[in-house]
Amino acid sequence: MLKRKNSLKILDKTSKAKIIIKKLKKENKNIPIILVPTMGALHQGHLSLIKKAEKYNGIIIVSIFVNPIQFNDKNDLKNYPNTLRADIEKLKELGVDYLFLPTVKDIFNSSFQTTVSVNELQKFLCGKHRPGHFNGVSTIVLKLFNIINPDIAVFGRKDFQQLAIIKRMVIDLNLDIKILEGEIIREESGLALSSRNKLLTKKNYEIAQNIYQGLMFIRSEFKKGKKSSVQLKRLLVTFYQSKGIRNIEYINIVDRNSLIDSKTVRTGNIIAVAIKLGKIRLIDNLKF
Ligand code: PAJ
Repeated sequence: MLKRKNSLKILDKTSKAKIIIKKLKKENKNIPIILVPTMGALHQGHLSLIKKAEKYNGIIIVSIFVNPIQFNDKNDLKNYPNTLRADIEKLKELGVDYLFLPTVKDIFNSSFQTTVSVNELQKFLCGKHRPGHFNGVSTIVLKLFNIINPDIAVFGRKDFQQLAIIKRMVIDLNLDIKILEGEIIREESGLALSSRNKLLTKKNYEIAQNIYQGLMFIRSEFKKGKKSSVQLKRLLVTFYQSKGIRNIEYINIVDRNSLIDSKTVRTGNIIAVAIKLGKIRLIDNLKF
């Protein structure tokens, strides 16, 4: 059993990280390197991924990097919360071994021009509404994989399209990385934890509680026998409208691997939604 040391070490440069990780791999041949990629503003959702990683008794590396190339909206990038000091404290408390904290310049030098694109899966759901977003995600995640060279990487089901894309990339590009999936962590009301919740006005924060309630309502209608996707989606629109949610970006019921719309809903399908409250965009999903 690997003993958890309570000294978080910060790797702030790619070159330094690569050297240290090579050394770690040489010295700890049978101990897995586990990567938890994040953009910071850490909440219990992120921390649950780290706790999941801990069960694998490896060397845990959390990355915090607000990846500019996955933000299709400049204001979203500008307003993205930064709570680095508190994040570091949380990582120390959990006994994380390393924090990879590179600068944008270090990750994307001025001549950078390569994109990784998971062509089909990025066309659906969020990909339709956020041009370039998933290319930005797959490119940074592959870069992180190449820098950290992890045996295991952990991602949350909250971003279920992202997870599907990363799993596809790992298979398509023959990466020897085991992908672990973390359940969605929610507030007591059911609202999925998100760094963007902090940016909601008080009123919109209250309205946001209904996002998950709506998904639960639709799942119960499915369980009572309604199987038509069109009918279930309509019911959800009506529910959301009655709760003051007017700007629905999408509601889709899809196969969880192909992300293709299901006409007749089956157990195991995913209902996924994106809602805009003011300028803040929130996503959530639930398995039938
Ligand atoms: P970020 O939004 O910081 O999320 C980091 C990880 O935390 C992702 O795997 C995400 O799915 C997971 N996560 C977020 N909220 C969660 C919740 N409520 N419950 C469980 N897991 C949750 O996703 C990204 O960053 C970026 O796209 C990244 C993968 C780091 C690439 O830049």
